[in-house]
Amino acid sequence: MKKLKIEVCSGSECTMMGAMDIIESIEGLKSLKQQLRLKSQIEVIPCKCFGDCKNGQFSPIVKINDEVITNATSDIVMSRIIALSKMD
Ligand code: FES
Repeated sequence: MKKLKIEVCSGSECTMMGAMDIIESIEGLKSLKQQLRLKSQIEVIPCKCFGDCKNGQFSPIVKINDEVITNATSDIVMSRIIALSKMD
């Protein structure tokens, strides 16, 4: 089974810009994995500041298997997870 390691920055800038909402959305998505037929193991890891936020200009930042998403939103992260999970 494919493994998706999702690192969500929980530094102060990213938290202010909605990182916790993104973590909650991913947790919600994990509980719907069977209904959505997602074929991957999803691991969410809250991380310290990646050092790339430039005082919040690029916050929140999420990394999915080292692919960096800047100015992330729950919608963008969810669609990326679903797309990657459905790829073989
Ligand atoms: S606070 Fe998130 S990358 Fe710096």
